[in-house]
Amino acid sequence: MRFTIAIDGPAAAGKGTISKGVSAHFGFAHLDTGLLYRAVGRRTLDGEAAEAAALDLKPEDLERDDLRTAHVAQAASKVAVIPEVRAALVDFQRNFARRDGGAVLDGRDIGTVICPEAEVKLYVTATPEVRAERRYLELAGKGSDVSREQVLADVKERDARDMERAQAPLIPAKDANLVDTSELSIDDALAAAIAIVQSRLPQNG
Ligand code: CDP
Repeated sequence: MRFTIAIDGPAAAGKGTISKGVSAHFGFAHLDTGLLYRAVGRRTLDGEAAEAAALDLKPEDLERDDLRTAHVAQAASKVAVIPEVRAALVDFQRNFARRDGGAVLDGRDIGTVICPEAEVKLYVTATPEVRAERRYLELAGKGSDVSREQVLADVKERDARDMERAQAPLIPAKDANLVDTSELSIDDALAAAIAIVQSRLPQNG
């Protein structure tokens, strides 16, 4: 069966948690497309040109253990505005999306650009303050020396860059289901997402 679930939304809205939970629930493969941009951003921090890094991305680049830092997130959102970088990553994402057995992809432009024909599209969002608090707890929990103010500023800066860029800006697809997680627990957000997907599976008609 081919079945694509596109999950988009701004930083720290809960996409990652929902995507992992949905893919585990339905037994689908999961691709965190943010990791592709983080891996390219990481290589630019090491001195490489962004487009060359995107064209030469290797599986081991995605396995580096330093991709989740705020520093790399900023580098990722900077390379993500470059059309050639985005173009270099399209085929890999589309092939993943159409693999047999179902796929969940989370990112910024999955429902709008990468998989406009996805069977289900979710746009997961929350207020900047709620998202910054979640990201702060995540980073602080990993021993990162960051302040709440710094994380909120970082989230807002990346939101602006992601939403205002010319190519593939962060915007809900017209046919996306909105999931606002500002006042939802992880379990409730996941349950809402699973219910939406369940209603779209082929056996439901
Ligand atoms: O986890 P978080 O939401 O903070 O970030 P991420 O999903 O790992 O994405 C990092 C950055 O990559 C984002 O700020 C975007 O600029 C970029 N990105 C993108 O442009 N398109 C995607 N499909 C995924 C990420």
